[in-house]
Amino acid sequence: MNRILIKNANIVNEGAIRQGDVLLEESFIIEIGDSISAEKANLVVDAEGKYLLPGVIDDQVHFREPGLTHKGNIASESRAAIAGGITTFIEQPNTNPQTVTIEKLEEKMEIARKTSFANYSFMFGGTNDNLEELKRLDPKACAGVKLFLGSSTGNMLVDNEEVLEKIFRSTEMVISAHCEDEATIRENLSRFKEKFGDDIPIENHPLIRSEQACYLSSSRAIALAKSTGARLHVFHVSTGKETELFTNAIPLEEKKITAEVCTHHLWFSDADYAEKGTLIKWNPAVKTAADRDALWEALLDDRIDILATDHAPHTLEEKQQVYTSAPSGGPLVQHALVAMLEKHKEGKISLEKMVQKMCHNPAILFDIEKRGYIREGYYADLVLVDPDHAWTVEKSNLLYKCNWSPFEGTRFSSAVTHTFVNGNLAYNQGQFSEGRRVKRLTFNR
Ligand code: DOR
Repeated sequence: MNRILIKNANIVNEGAIRQGDVLLEESFIIEIGDSISAEKANLVVDAEGKYLLPGVIDDQVHFREPGLTHKGNIASESRAAIAGGITTFIEQPNTNPQTVTIEKLEEKMEIARKTSFANYSFMFGGTNDNLEELKRLDPKACAGVKLFLGSSTGNMLVDNEEVLEKIFRSTEMVISAHCEDEATIRENLSRFKEKFGDDIPIENHPLIRSEQACYLSSSRAIALAKSTGARLHVFHVSTGKETELFTNAIPLEEKKITAEVCTHHLWFSDADYAEKGTLIKWNPAVKTAADRDALWEALLDDRIDILATDHAPHTLEEKQQVYTSAPSGGPLVQHALVAMLEKHKEGKISLEKMVQKMCHNPAILFDIEKRGYIREGYYADLVLVDPDHAWTVEKSNLLYKCNWSPFEGTRFSSAVTHTFVNGNLAYNQGQFSEGRRVKRLTFNR
């Protein structure tokens, strides 16, 4: 029996930090205690001075496989994810072909089974014309339904109001929505194009993909969810105004309308466009410092439930094109956790809150079975973090296939040292283990 003992860790879990040991057997956590005998294990990992967190569950990543694999693939990006402490991901349907049939969904599951370094599930993409297929979907087969209520990479806009209402009425699954009003964006874009042609200065991106576009679309989706009783999760909220649409008056378990914020919207502001240019072009756009502050406030007071990445790699060549051609999105999975640890050191967020938003809440929100917590009987998805290990993000230490990062040049003062996926020490101080032990997510539904 393969047993690993993690000794003397500062265990961050369920709202508290305690010092102790955690014993793993095969895929599971079997014991948590103040002091567990080393004789019980074949391998002891000394965690003195380190934090032990549940593996991060990232509910929004784009790993580009199939069809866009020049940007990234499930193997390359999930490998970067585990080096960043993300042990589970939910991947999005805007691949090529799009994940809009059960057959395509299962094909992706099969690629992940063979190549992923992290636990996986996918979202099924709703479109203007796949309602019948969506109705056939087993709610336990995947994480949920994704709707692009604003176009982005992959042309998956759902703009047929009638279909939209039918989708909202016909599934009990979580509907995750990208909310940006297309008509507003088009109008803004044509105004800026008249003035600048294609070479629109990037600082205008948040004026084109504007606060108004976000608010209009999010509030419409919420109104529709309320009138139909659907379970709606609004992805990557990017404006202070939208945070007013969400409540903290009830616990997450009871919410029918939830929200996610992403790393980049908490880290960057429009002041960064001057230095970073189109590298920080995202949909929705990074907006003002006041928006960023309001997002932090809503995350901390529980109006926003989840903190994720929206990891969306494109090649540097693609990103460096003129404004209208440069795609939106950037790679983040390797750096999202250490970026938040930096914010923790700045006093912005407690470790307990980080763990709630990045580990516990995604598990609750998607009904993920036996993950997201450090509990006996749960899968041993765990991350050890050294809070006193400074390093600088450089090309030489990037693991993304696209080989660039919006964080290049940033010095982080914490590092992920060990990542366990289902009890397998998959990442150990820069080294990846030969074997993989990953699982398709199962759901308590
Ligand atoms: O910036 C973005 N890029 N936002 C999205 O919603 C999609 C993503 C992508 O796939 O490139």
